Amino acid sequence: MSDPFRYLTSVGQALAVMGLYPGGHPARERAVDTSLDLLSELTAAEAELQFSFLDGEVIYRQQVLREMRGWEWGVRLAAVGVERIEFLGEITREEYAGWLDELQHLLAGETPDTAEVRQLVSRGIRYGLIDVRVSAAGGTTPDRVSSLAAFPDLGAEVQAIRWIHGEAGLHGRLPLVEVEAVVRSLAVAMHGQSQIRLPLLQLKAFDQYTTTHSSNVAVLAMALSEYLGLGSREICSFGIAGLLHDLGKVRIPKEILVKPGQFTEEERTVMQRHPVEGARIIIEQEGRLDLAAFVAYEHHIMLNGGGYPALRYPRDCHYASKVVHVCDVYDALCTDRPYRPAWTSERALGYLAERSGLEFDPELVDVFTRMIRDWEQRRMPMDGAAAPAAAAPPAEG
Ligand SMILES: [Fe+2]
Ligand SMILES: [Fe+2]
Repeated sequence: MSDPFRYLTSVGQALAVMGLYPGGHPARERAVDTSLDLLSELTAAEAELQFSFLDGEVIYRQQVLREMRGWEWGVRLAAVGVERIEFLGEITREEYAGWLDELQHLLAGETPDTAEVRQLVSRGIRYGLIDVRVSAAGGTTPDRVSSLAAFPDLGAEVQAIRWIHGEAGLHGRLPLVEVEAVVRSLAVAMHGQSQIRLPLLQLKAFDQYTTTHSSNVAVLAMALSEYLGLGSREICSFGIAGLLHDLGKVRIPKEILVKPGQFTEEERTVMQRHPVEGARIIIEQEGRLDLAAFVAYEHHIMLNGGGYPALRYPRDCHYASKVVHVCDVYDALCTDRPYRPAWTSERALGYLAERSGLEFDPELVDVFTRMIRDWEQRRMPMDGAAAPAAAAPPAEG
């Protein structure tokens, strides 16, 4: 009788034993044998198997295994980027032992770049990050990763960002799991093919500006930090900071956000509160998002100290804020606004160059410009069409 519970338990035991004994030890060999036997029993019943570890839940072929809720090894594997394991066909003992070894190295932190394990297809085993779909009700449901099969259109991500903004605006709550899931999902969209892509959303309606802009700034900030050679942890936290940089706009009246003409002095003052409001929402949440709070606060502060909020004493902004500032202005200029049509990429790069050293960090402008030109062919215009407009509260409300 095949049993996913017994099989996963054997994986946990094998990983525990491998952490204790050196290679070649009989205890390790036994643990690998037992686990492979149980896997063979499962694959005899089902040719392809999928396991997902999400939010403390273990999911086997779309079914939540209730008895495994909070399973320690699932939580640990998810924490190192292994949220999903798929067995696609026949696996030899040597291959299986090698794969367990890879998991053990990941868990031991010996393979720090978890971005690299996103889509490893090795020896009939595929494992890595999951594509998370956020339902209209706000719960997360796992779906099979589609990024290998087709271009994602970012519809689910757009919907999730709208819902996140709605939660922040209505309840002052920032749903961290979904924020991280969106950023991971954007990273998968960037890396689903053999070369990096820039999945940038095109604005469809002015009142969706904050949603599409947040996604684009997250993608550009991750791309720039990857181009700069930063590690996967930083890339991810810069992505989160990019996604949340304009979060404070959920507290700005919609009439001001979508106003087609010039702001009055009073309206400008209200609009310029969004960095402070955003940082406030973020720091009111439990832990882990200090960087995003800095970036939300600082992303309109110029290199020369100008911009807003006004600094009482001149000081250097966080590096991530400087990264997001460049990405933010570039995306804003390349997008249609109620008061002007979108600029071309080259014109926006020209603007960055003009203000390099005054508003923007000159080194970052250089690298960003090189990246955009190098990766011009890798732009993937996205329409986010799969997002049903009425499924979530409005982003900018
Ligand atoms: Fe902003
Ligand atoms: Fe922005």
